[in-house]
Amino acid sequence: MNSIEQIETKFLELFQEQPLLVRSPGRVNIIGEHTDYNQGFVLPAAIEKSMYIAISSRTDTHCKIIAHDLQDEFEFDITALSRSEKGWPNYLMGVVDQLMKAGYGLRGFHCVFGGEIPVGAGMSSSAAIEAGLAYGLNVLFNLGIAKKELVRIAQRAENEFVGLQCGIMDMYANIFGMDGHVLKLDCRSVDHRYYPLDHTLSIVLLDTRVSHSLASSEYNKRRAECTEGVRLLQKKYPLVHSLRDATLGMLNELQAEIPSVVYKRCSYVVEENERVEEACRMLERSDYTKLGELLYASHEGLSKKYEVSCPELDYLVSTAKKLPEIYGARMMGGGFGGCTINLVKPEYVDTVTAVLKEEYYKKFDRNPFAYVTSTGSGTHVIEVKSNAAV
Ligand code: GLA
Repeated sequence: MNSIEQIETKFLELFQEQPLLVRSPGRVNIIGEHTDYNQGFVLPAAIEKSMYIAISSRTDTHCKIIAHDLQDEFEFDITALSRSEKGWPNYLMGVVDQLMKAGYGLRGFHCVFGGEIPVGAGMSSSAAIEAGLAYGLNVLFNLGIAKKELVRIAQRAENEFVGLQCGIMDMYANIFGMDGHVLKLDCRSVDHRYYPLDHTLSIVLLDTRVSHSLASSEYNKRRAECTEGVRLLQKKYPLVHSLRDATLGMLNELQAEIPSVVYKRCSYVVEENERVEEACRMLERSDYTKLGELLYASHEGLSKKYEVSCPELDYLVSTAKKLPEIYGARMMGGGFGGCTINLVKPEYVDTVTAVLKEEYYKKFDRNPFAYVTSTGSGTHVIEVKSNAAV
């Protein structure tokens, strides 16, 4: 885990010049899972845990990038990009690839990055790197790209270069996050509205420390199943362009023609969209008890209908359900591991965290990580205050 000072110091040591410093946050998602790529609603927030990206320009087309957390480095040329076996350079090269394809006037650059977002925990460290680099290169080379386009560039980088058909949520929350707020994103109109997050609600993440290698292929499979659902609905309802347009009534009417797995996936998505809208109403009323019930219902759907949970996540959520100090909990992110999000009464954060950790340890003989997190601002350039020696 690296701080901004460490990233800056490393950069100065290696390249002897002051870099542009970008802070790029992770995200949580209160509710609205697997709805983004179905043109539905999501309710994420940027968090204070961030990746830090230090960059400076070169005059040629060469790039040298250092992953400080991994103590690893990689070099490439922006005019000859090809996927790397190493994995991590693809998140950065994917962004360069998109900028080049769109014809932006890019040159080579130096980059050191690292940060506080645990990898594989479901807080979107990858989106933080992609969107953070897109943001930084936009400033560094004065490309004049609007924020929404940066979001799309980062998303396409992941879709095309990394190979995960992810939706827009993570990058959008990264760029548009606002301290003290969650944002309701309409993934069809690609517009958002902020909702203040009260200080009488704490967010605790419990990281199962499980990550399944099938996560990426299963994710892409879920997308395909949803597309199949839309195709079948269109036979009777041609105006259904995505599951956002579907209703449970339509699904039930055509149930005989829809394979049961596809029916389960689609009904989950339709219900989850409704839960997001309801959750926003509950946030406005500060009715956290009802909000919490929606989280539990979301988890149930993710586990039983969408089938993207795992025993570790299910156990953490069922344990949370027994604790009245927790309003609600559910798995967060793509699934198959990663963490649960727990909405907790602030005065009980320590107590419930200890109970959840202990119960998890007893069951799985492994210590989960716990993070008490709060909302933070979207990606931005950090003013240089450092006295680090060149
Ligand atoms: C991952 C993807 C997002 C979203 C979530 C599930 O985090 O990157 O686009 O689909 O899974 O809600």
